[in-house]
Amino acid sequence: MADRVLVLGTGAREHALSWKLAQSTRVGEVFCAPGNAGTATVATNVACDIHDNAAVVALADELEVDLVVVGPDQPAVNGVVDALEAAGHLAFGPSAAAAQLEGSKIWMKAVVTRAGVPTARYAEFAAGQEAEAFAYLDTMSGGYVIKTDGLAAGKGVIVTESLAKAQQAVRDYLSGAAFGAAGERLVIEEMMTGPEVSLFVLCDGNGGAIPLTPAQDHKRVGEGDTGPNTGGMGAYSPVPFVDDALVDEVMAKIVRPTLDTLAAEGTPFRGILFTGLMLTTEGPKLVEYNVRFGDPECQVVLPRMTSDLYVHYREAAEGCLASEVTFADDAAVTACLASAGYPGTPSTGDAIVGLDAAAAVPGVTIFHAGTKNDDGTLVTAGGRVLSVTAVGPTIDVACARAYEAIGHISWPGLHYRRDIAYQAREESL
Ligand code: AMP
Ligand code: GLY
Repeated sequence: MADRVLVLGTGAREHALSWKLAQSTRVGEVFCAPGNAGTATVATNVACDIHDNAAVVALADELEVDLVVVGPDQPAVNGVVDALEAAGHLAFGPSAAAAQLEGSKIWMKAVVTRAGVPTARYAEFAAGQEAEAFAYLDTMSGGYVIKTDGLAAGKGVIVTESLAKAQQAVRDYLSGAAFGAAGERLVIEEMMTGPEVSLFVLCDGNGGAIPLTPAQDHKRVGEGDTGPNTGGMGAYSPVPFVDDALVDEVMAKIVRPTLDTLAAEGTPFRGILFTGLMLTTEGPKLVEYNVRFGDPECQVVLPRMTSDLYVHYREAAEGCLASEVTFADDAAVTACLASAGYPGTPSTGDAIVGLDAAAAVPGVTIFHAGTKNDDGTLVTAGGRVLSVTAVGPTIDVACARAYEAIGHISWPGLHYRRDIAYQAREESL
């Protein structure tokens, strides 16, 4: 009998996961909770509060699923994988203990320091330690990075060359004014420089760890990497300046020592280890770990995967990765289409037109993020609305296809970056 899979989440990442899982010959039905208008085209959407572990377990029982795939970080940090496993379900994602890699920067930095991983020099401070934090800032040169300990919806990091701004951030964080409790403990790091790249590593919690193909995100809202940070405005893969030797070096110096330390300390990591790297003049250094696929990086990694994601996830969830993970030589590019106002408060409820013509462009797949079906009309329902992905024999061809598709799509206030993959394009913009 074909297997049944439940994907937790609501973004373009979860649409891509559902889309890829539905292609498995082993999978009969995919459910997505709560999903969006796009996941509804490849899976059955089911209403559920995915931040309520008991509700997720009850849903997995009711649907009699063979595997639950956790998309975003918060349910993992909340312990949904522990709850599902305790109820006898197979789940792909980290335990709450291992999810602290993303849930607490202080915990993460302490683990990687014990593991001897190359990363930015840092110190941690708590409410009441403003003077100590200021003294530490005085020991740094070249720039300052201030991070909330806890999750802050991707907005808890300040990178600045201004000591005054760094001091202000420390004040705002430690007082609770900026991010509430998430900022009352913080990390100050030295500023690193260099290109950033994301490596996703499939981990089975038992020593098995397979790097997937690298991808590069575009975090700033504006072309030329300007303006405020976002969840990500686009991505591409492969990354020409990340070759196999560099991936091997990252696995040897960063990922494996981290996984070994976590396992030795009783918190083995199972799931996708999102390794955020900076390629500095001193070699690759760890910027951050996340405990999930990146969004939009997932939307360029999975379309290039030629092996069966369901088989890989099942093997990882069972603690025994065995199958070979393979990728096409093709390139993939995705550009995120955002609503007016994003990354601030987005405008919603606008009718989206042109999707059929866009999807008809060769090589194009459109993954939905903030969309909703409103009585038969597709409308915007969030900041990032669509992730328009194209594959092609080269980055340039993939880009041309993605932007041709985007040319067909419109709604009032739609904005996106026209320079996705500029780091890898042969043709000038
Ligand atoms: P994080 O949430 O830790 O990934 O930080 C968000 C972004 O801030 C990263 O993607 C980097 O662009 C930047 N960043 C974080 N830490 C550093 C650092 N130590 N040096 C320079 N930039 C950093
Ligand atoms: N694209 C970066 C992230 O998913 O956090």
